[in-house]
Amino acid sequence: MKHLHDLPAWSKLWNHFDETKARHMREMFEQDPQRAERYWLQVGGLMVDYSKNRINDETMSLLFELAREAGVPERMRQMFHGEKINTTENRAVLHVALRNRTNSPIVVDGEDVMPKVNRVLQRMGEFAHEVRSGSWLGYTNQVITDVVNIGIGGSDLGPLMMCTALKPFGHPRLNMHFVSNVDGSQLRDVLSKVHPETTLFIIASKTFTTQETLTNALTAREWFLNHAGDEEAVAKHFAAVSTNQKAVAEFGIDTANMFEFWDWVGGRYSLWSAIGLPIMLYLGEENFIEMLNGAHLMDQHFINTPLERNLPAILALIGIWYINYYGGGSHVIAPYDQHLHRLPKFIQQLDMESNGKQVTLDGKAVGYETSPIIWGETGINGQHAFFQLLHQGTHITPIDLIASLEKRSNLPGHHEILLANVFAQAEAFMRGKTPDEVRAELKAQGMDEARIEELVPHKTFSGNRPTNLILMDKVNPRNMGSLIAMYEHKTFVQGIIWGINSFDQWGVELGKQLAKTILGELTGETVPQKHDSSTERLIRLYLQTNRKS
Ligand code: F6P
Repeated sequence: MKHLHDLPAWSKLWNHFDETKARHMREMFEQDPQRAERYWLQVGGLMVDYSKNRINDETMSLLFELAREAGVPERMRQMFHGEKINTTENRAVLHVALRNRTNSPIVVDGEDVMPKVNRVLQRMGEFAHEVRSGSWLGYTNQVITDVVNIGIGGSDLGPLMMCTALKPFGHPRLNMHFVSNVDGSQLRDVLSKVHPETTLFIIASKTFTTQETLTNALTAREWFLNHAGDEEAVAKHFAAVSTNQKAVAEFGIDTANMFEFWDWVGGRYSLWSAIGLPIMLYLGEENFIEMLNGAHLMDQHFINTPLERNLPAILALIGIWYINYYGGGSHVIAPYDQHLHRLPKFIQQLDMESNGKQVTLDGKAVGYETSPIIWGETGINGQHAFFQLLHQGTHITPIDLIASLEKRSNLPGHHEILLANVFAQAEAFMRGKTPDEVRAELKAQGMDEARIEELVPHKTFSGNRPTNLILMDKVNPRNMGSLIAMYEHKTFVQGIIWGINSFDQWGVELGKQLAKTILGELTGETVPQKHDSSTERLIRLYLQTNRKS
């Protein structure tokens, strides 16, 4: 396998970086009136302005060269053809099959997966129809009013983010709840709000071995049985979503109430699968299909469009430019739409669990940065909190500003203020404010020269800070599908360039193993084991506190 450092474009980009790093985007805009038009792409209802990046045509063409040398087109083809590109788990990576709306065959191990994808989708649709129409009744013949999804990571964040984002499309009778934390206070809070006769629990776990989820599920089941008193009632109130039929049956959920998916769907890529059941229950089958259509549109764009006009690839390459050349170690996701406030957390798992890797596919140390730290918050709240650092701090942090063109409420004035802020932030990050501009501004306020000179360094903004402005014509299921698929493919392309496996997550295992050992010590089931002195002290402290209470 070729190492990134050995690719000719990698070194060419270093030379180009040395030549261009001092250039300011202000000048780039002044010198090139076409810049905004050239660095703009639209796919379906998504429009992306990437002109406020520290790039020019040569940067982009070298980045495309890098992508070709790293084998991006070939790897993309392998993924779409069901090849086992997740080599450490010997699995195909086929979230694209889940939204393959043309239904063309996709073969894994000699089997076309589309018939089973369609079968589960149809079952989900039937179930959703029954719950939404009120024909699915609880054990006392009442309609379902509350859905509690119990899952964590990819079995939580996708459905939670989508149901929150698309709230205006939600069924008015259904209240959606999401429990992920094994801290009992989250489940207790939810259980205090719902009634066992009208609540449907969805136990969502790809492996059905996740301790947090199974613990919450058992507690929910016990709570339910305390009220219902009859094991048979469980079937009307518990459904499972998993790849592990045996574990679901052992847990005591009727497998007739199980919605299946497959090992070639990664947890963080699973909202399109049966893991999306809460989304379908809330939004309805039609809207769920619309979401799949939007993702399929992005998939088609991604696989069929040359890199030069390929939205996910372009965003990925611009990201590489900052991470690997400018040393930008983090990336901010700043949605301005309130209903998108869960998006940063979702993208955080998608990107950091996929590309937070330190060895290449052939097991060698990478020797360069991989996934940036993804973080964020609604942009407008961020402006009044951490944006100070983004404007004047010492880090270069690329930011995705995400907004909807369509008004999200009919409250007068709100949307204009919101979008004015989005556009203004992008402009401010790019332009900055020069010392002379600060001087002129303060002089106009009548300030004396000495004080002006004291303040100039503090009020100067270097600018030249990169943003991508991602606009949706409206926030609807189709555009949300396209948006998430765009980020998935962006993550994939970066992983290809870094030569890593974006689809395993071994890094989460060690903590899980150690927690099992420590749990036995905290509950007194096992005798204290040998740990480091800090861990032993913490365990002692817990046991002392527990004995006192
Ligand atoms: O521990 C990490 C992880 O395996 C994620 O990759 C996954 O999304 C989450 O836990 C939940 O796993 P499961 O769906 O198997 O319960």
